Formats: sequence, structure tokens, C-alpha cells
Amino acid sequence: MSVTGVFRNHSPGDLTSVIAAISAGLSAEDRAPDLSGIFERELQRTLAIRSVRLREIPARYRARLVTPTRTADSIVLGVPTADPRVQAVLEAFSGPDRVLGSADHEVLAVAAQLGGLVLELSRTRHSRRASHDGAAPLIGASVAMQRLRERVERVAFTGFTVLIEGESGTGKELVARQLHDLSARATGPFVAVNCAAVVETLLEAELFGIEDRTATGVKGRRGKFESADAGTLFLDEVSDLSLSAQAKLLRAIQEVAVERAGGNGVRRVDTRIIVATNRPLSDLVTQGLFRADLYYRLGGVEIHVPPLRERREDIPELAQYFLSRHRHTRDLTISAPALEALRAYDWPGNVRELERLIESSVALTESDSIQLDDLPPRVRGEYGEVLGHSIMAGHSMRAWGSRYARLVFERCGRNKRRACRLLDISYHTLQAYLRYAEATTTGSDKQLPAWVKSASQEPVLEEAVDA
Ligand SMILES: Nc1ncnc2c1ncn2[C@@H]1O[C@H](COP(=O)(O)OP(=O)(O)OP(=O)(O)O)[C@@H](O)[C@H]1O
Ligand SMILES: [Mg+2]
Repeated sequence: MSVTGVFRNHSPGDLTSVIAAISAGLSAEDRAPDLSGIFERELQRTLAIRSVRLREIPARYRARLVTPTRTADSIVLGVPTADPRVQAVLEAFSGPDRVLGSADHEVLAVAAQLGGLVLELSRTRHSRRASHDGAAPLIGASVAMQRLRERVERVAFTGFTVLIEGESGTGKELVARQLHDLSARATGPFVAVNCAAVVETLLEAELFGIEDRTATGVKGRRGKFESADAGTLFLDEVSDLSLSAQAKLLRAIQEVAVERAGGNGVRRVDTRIIVATNRPLSDLVTQGLFRADLYYRLGGVEIHVPPLRERREDIPELAQYFLSRHRHTRDLTISAPALEALRAYDWPGNVRELERLIESSVALTESDSIQLDDLPPRVRGEYGEVLGHSIMAGHSMRAWGSRYARLVFERCGRNKRRACRLLDISYHTLQAYLRYAEATTTGSDKQLPAWVKSASQEPVLEEAVDA
């Protein structure tokens, strides 16, 4: 061994200066201090060695390092991480004129534990900053949304390829942006490509770029893969890729490299891929419309964004959020009956449909508050037709119930026992309702609509009239 240098005496107590430097970094004005950098520099100074590096191993180098790995002048130590799928290490190299002795090893072993905290701190600092300045927030406090947010945070920093599935308008692109903003690539570009919107023949050039071909006058340009270098490439509607485009995508993902159309030679790219689809890819694989090998590459880490009708509790908050975004244009509120109707509606177009509806209300509503009548008929639906009037008039349950009881009573040919059975109430309750109806209906109300009376003459109800 050519290493000749001297041993030094250290003890874990020497890490005090490293801890002090990290605290100073945390309390500095800088909202995103380079804590790993501070840790590395201070540890290197303390041990008087050539270099120290604290890092996470990129996801694509899947094989786990066995640590500690040491030579006379270097050591690689495992660093604890919150996510078992991510491996982090502390590497130290003493330089040719000095060997790493057991005292150094002891200090470095403690430093590796501290390194785990430093990485975790950098990550939370980073994610807080990203959610402040980055993509719009994911609104919603339902259990489904909480789960989604947790999953997004957990998956974001891993660097793995992510498949996002969910109906149209549920917020898949928003989720993809959050994944980018919370990742270590947040400072790099986020490049989105809608695979369905690009003409098939141009898709290859769009994704992989095209070489200069002076003879034909084609000007070379970078593809989206290259544009997303050091960042994230978001492929929306990936299920719309043709089988040949799928084959190229598979190659690009496997080799982490792209070849421009008409090019000879590949360019390495360092990009994280996030894909989204509103048709489940596994079904398309079964139908032979999507390559199974590509599906296995893209799947694995999947995020399902639930439709709005499965998290109705989020509707009021989303509606208020979209209203507040237009506050500078108009300060509108939304009435309780209108909000109830929004909650009852099924939202086939999900959050996007709700967002558009609020926008049109901001443009069209005449009063300061969105009323049931301001909503389009499809949203008001049964709610508006059947219950809307009563809600607007503030009818009590008793008033409502007695009117309904009276109508059913008339339709049963004024047979009380039958009416009780149909209404599923006691004879006494029916009597009370009818008395209340009699006392409160005005002269014009007593004129029952024709459909009530005519029905009472025909055997519309399934049973024979009791004696
Ligand atoms: N949870 C949410 N909080 C706030 N805004 C949301 C939320 N979900 C969706 N949106 C908004 O709704 C709109 C539609 O979302 P997005 O484009 O992400 O949906 P998508 O699933 O990608 O739709 P498509 O399948 O049609 O491409 C966007 O304007 C987005 O900002
Ligand atoms: Mg989308």
C-alpha cells in the first residue's frame, strides 16, 4: 500500500463544530441553505481529509451498495433514510498522504447518522419552499385527498418513474407538477407533452428531436426528452401513443438516452419520467393496445387520482377556492342551496368541470351570491326541480312532510291505511300531517293538480284498495 501518511486522533466530540455549522445554516436568512454542502465542508475541515460527500444513490442504480466499504484511504458508509427504497451514503477520501484510522472511522460512523438527519432536513426545507412558490396547491381535506397528498410526498423525492391514473379532469397534471416541485429536480425544467395532441408522424421528432438535414432544409431541434434534461418529462395521455412510438419510448427509458430522428448516435439524458392516462393501462395491455413491457416499465409506482364524486366533501372547499381565485374580478359568495346542489351533482368532468362552472358563474351571475337558479339545469337537476322551491322558501320539514302526505293520501283515493303503508308512517302521524295541511293550505292550494285526482280514479297503485 502506497499510503504513507500519519494517523490523527479524533473523537465523535469533534462533530460539535459540524452541528454548529448546520444550525447556523438553518437559522440563516437563506430559505433553502445547502445543508448537505455545509455538512460536507465542515466534516472535511474537522477531519482534515481530502473530500467528503453525502448523497442519495439515484434510483436507476438499483443494486444496493454493501456498506461500509473501505480501503486504507477511503470509506463509504450507509446513511439512514426515511424511505427504504432510497439508499444514501457518506463517502470520505483522506488523500494520498494520510490513512483513515479507527478514530476517523468512529467519527465518520457518527457523522453518517447525522448525515441522515441532514438529508431529511434538506428535503423538508425543499418541499416547503416548493409548495410556496411552485405548482398550485392540491385542494381537498377528504381522506382520499389526504392519502393522495401523502403518497405524492413519499414518491416525489425518489426519482422513480410514476404512472398517474384517473378520470379526465381529476387533477393528474397537477399531481405531476407537485411530484416535480417536491423532488430534487425542482430547480430543473418541467416539460409536459400531451401525446394525444401531437400528430402521430410528428410525435417522434417532438419527443426525441430531429437532426439538421441541410439537403432537405429540415432544421435540427431538441426533443422534449432533451429539453427535460435535469428535470421532469411529463407524458400526458400516454395511452394514445402508437405501438411504434411506444417501442421508441421503451428504448429511451431503458437506455436513459435518446436518438434524434435521422441521427446517428444517442445522447444521454437525465430526466425523470412521469406519465398519465385516463384509461387504465392494464386494460389496454389486455386488449393488445399497449405494450406489456412498456407498461411494466412505467407502472410499479402508481398514483390513482379519485374522481370528484368519490370525495364529495371536497366540493365546497374547491368551489370556494376557485371563487377566491377570481376575487380580484368579483367578490362572489355561494348560497347554501346552490352548494348543496353542487355536492349532489355527479361531476363527470370532475374538478375541471367545477372550475369552469365557477368561472361561468363569475361571468354571468347577476347578484352577489350564486343561487340555485344560477346553476345550469344539469347541475341543478332533480334537486332544483323537486326541492329547490321548498329550500328557497325555507319550508320546514313539517310543512314539507304534510304537503307530501296530503298528495299521497289523495292519490290513494283518500284511503288512510293505504297511504300510511306507502308513506311508512303510523296512522297517528298521518292524521297529524293531514290536520296540519288542512290548517295551513290556502284556498288556491286546496285545488289539487289534475294529475293527483285523475290518478286517484285509476288503479295506478299496485294494490287493491282496502275496505
Ligand atoms: N385538488 C385540486 N385542487 C385544486 N385544483 C385542482 C385540483 N384538481 C384539479 N384541479 C384543477 O382542475 C383542472 C384540471 O386538472 P388537470 O388538468 O390536472 O386534470 P387532468 O386529470 O390532467 O385532466 P385530463 O385527463 O383531462 O388531462 C386544472 O385547472 C387544475 O388546476
Ligand atoms: Mg391532463
